[in-house]
Amino acid sequence: MRRLEDCLNVVDFESAARDVLPGPVFHYIDGGADDEVTKRANTAAFEQYHLIPRYLRDIRAIDMRRTVFGCELQWPLMLAPTGLTRVFHPDGEVGVAEAAAAAGTAYALSTMATSSIEEVGAATQGPKIFQLYLLNDDALNFGLIDRCKAANFDAICVTVDTIVAGNRERDHRTGLTVPPRLNRRNLRHFVQRPAWCLRYLAAGGVGLPNVPAASGGDLGSLAAYFASKMEQNITWSRLERLMAYWGKPFVVKGLQSVEDARNAAACGVAGIIVSNHGGRQLDGGSATIDLVADIVDAVGDRLEVVMDGGVRRGSHVVKALAMGARACMIGRPYLYSLSAFGKAGVARALTLLRKETERTLALIGCASVDEVGRHHLTVNARVPD
Ligand code: FNR
Repeated sequence: MRRLEDCLNVVDFESAARDVLPGPVFHYIDGGADDEVTKRANTAAFEQYHLIPRYLRDIRAIDMRRTVFGCELQWPLMLAPTGLTRVFHPDGEVGVAEAAAAAGTAYALSTMATSSIEEVGAATQGPKIFQLYLLNDDALNFGLIDRCKAANFDAICVTVDTIVAGNRERDHRTGLTVPPRLNRRNLRHFVQRPAWCLRYLAAGGVGLPNVPAASGGDLGSLAAYFASKMEQNITWSRLERLMAYWGKPFVVKGLQSVEDARNAAACGVAGIIVSNHGGRQLDGGSATIDLVADIVDAVGDRLEVVMDGGVRRGSHVVKALAMGARACMIGRPYLYSLSAFGKAGVARALTLLRKETERTLALIGCASVDEVGRHHLTVNARVPD
């Protein structure tokens, strides 16, 4: 079993999470859709871009601050929305939000979270984004927006890449159920992780407090109810109405094409998150880092472009900035660290990533994130002037 101080990077946290989580729960976090080609490509694609350093620069003070979607960040790596967090560790969304605030960055709370908008709003004064899965009843959408207003969230992002559920075959193979329940296929996995089982049982189960259900019910029935309410016909005019009602930065998450990015700019949104949901939805699409430059060139002067998918190192953050992204987000890395060590794990993972980002900036000769540009990158060793 790894100790917290032995984890030196995100991959170490991934193996630590593998050690503590029952197989079905670990694979729920780690898995992607179909053959997981896109999931793997997200991280691998960073390796085809090489950083070109400039030396003899003054890098005694490095300024990584950026304001993104109205959130003041000490460094440009935010925490992406992920559902069901308290299943992984009882510190849950509140622990992650507190760790993000302490690390000087923003946390995005999912509609499918196991902690409420109000709990996270009360727990931290740090920058907060609410991720909205659009429901097919605008009264419910407006109700969620009202709750975000009252809880002082800074921005709302609507995720548009989940119109149907991705095909995550690992979940079928491991016998994952929501909530986790023992069955013939998964019994051996849970028996091997008694500490997680005791912790989960002691927490007394989890709910989905942001799902506006008329009645309660267990996690499984809430999730099924929610799936039946998911909007499968999201239109730009619908988003315009929600954006006007919200009145603060409004963001669309899950775009991958220049055409959609142009439509988002025409709609007047504050920003977009170039994302393929960590390869959990459409498989066979591009790695997101490969899409950033074209999208920034098309709309970067009209809205803020953030990317996520496969970011595992500070050097990845710097490469995304060099492409023109305003910031990046991570999903699995903070879930691995939370699962293994709770809030303290998230804090350490963020400290490591922040140091890596700062060190990479120093090593390429940038005293500020605003100095990073395409001239710091070469593709497959073609050196620009
Ligand atoms: C996610 N993601 C996600 N996105 C979203 O908009 N709403 C959600 O509820 C979830 N839930 C979710 C659960 C889990 C377990 C994972 C791993 C991911 C996608 C997430 O916001 C982000 O786009 C990806 O995780 C980024 O890729 P990496 O960093 O995980 O490679």
